[in-house]
Amino acid sequence: MRLKDKVSIITGAASGIGKATSLVFAREGAKVMCADVNAGGAEAVARQIADTGGEAESIKVDVSVEADVKNMISQTVARWGRLDILYNNAGIGYGMPVTQVPESEWDRLMDINLKGVFLGCKHAIPEMLKNGGGAIVSTASDAGLIGTAMLSPYCASKGGVVLFTKSLAVEWGAMGIRVNCVCPGVIRTPILDPFLQQAQAMGATPEELWERMARAHPVGRVGEPEEVGRAVAFLASDEASFITGVALPVDGGFQAGPPGGYGADQRVASAQAAQ
Ligand SMILES: NC(=O)c1ccc[n+]([C@@H]2O[C@H](COP(=O)([O-])OP(=O)(O)OC[C@H]3O[C@@H](n4cnc5c(N)ncnc54)[C@H](O)[C@@H]3O)[C@@H](O)[C@H]2O)c1
Repeated sequence: MRLKDKVSIITGAASGIGKATSLVFAREGAKVMCADVNAGGAEAVARQIADTGGEAESIKVDVSVEADVKNMISQTVARWGRLDILYNNAGIGYGMPVTQVPESEWDRLMDINLKGVFLGCKHAIPEMLKNGGGAIVSTASDAGLIGTAMLSPYCASKGGVVLFTKSLAVEWGAMGIRVNCVCPGVIRTPILDPFLQQAQAMGATPEELWERMARAHPVGRVGEPEEVGRAVAFLASDEASFITGVALPVDGGFQAGPPGGYGADQRVASAQAAQ
């Protein structure tokens, strides 16, 4: 077990990547505080963990509200006496040409995706220092490493997470706190539902859209939430003891380059090369 008896908090734990990571953490022996603005969803995940012999609690949190974040951390410490791991994962998506982005949507996105990470780190670090250190992982995105049309506010928020991560790694490394982030490619979760609906409104079927997204990844498919969860568990564990300040793509090769290069069909090229 890679996380035996580690006390952890996972935000956005009610769904998608956060839910899958909560289950991975519990399997690896961690005590998990499942935190989400969706209190019922977080409670259901904690119950699922308890039903399978793990240890978990749940709490309602809006990661963009400082009082909520402070409460999440103090309740975790009150329950288990310490804090070893924080996974800042809660986030929202939004897609629109920049000329049509209302100021309120920009603010909402930054508040949840970027300020939420800031608040989590701000209040977790003092608790981690009491026990000689800890590990923080945040969910950035492939869209925090390269620009993406229609996603400029989202890219800005996730690019912010990447450099915030690196800055904290430098700031707290000597105090025993490692700070990393993961940059997932397209992962099959409910966050993509609005994009699928948009595509449908423009005449594409969800299947066509999934196929298009799959083809954008060199491995030829989109990712599953647990594949991110396993990478997060590694970064949070002592196995990653000399790793801090990284933005780890978990993306089926998306950051490595376009499948097939300049217009070549990857499968045809690979098949020909193998003959
Ligand atoms: N799915 C993808 O393709 C993908 C790719 C790259 C990055 N990400 C990032 O992964 C993270 C998890 O997303 P997901 O794909 O699992 O989506 P999801 O919608 O399944 O889960 C997001 C969770 O965050 C919670 N949440 C939203 N706002 C919150 C708030 N203010 N406070 C607390 N909780 C809040 C939601 O209730 C939900 O449970 C997000 O940060 C997202 O930006 C997702």
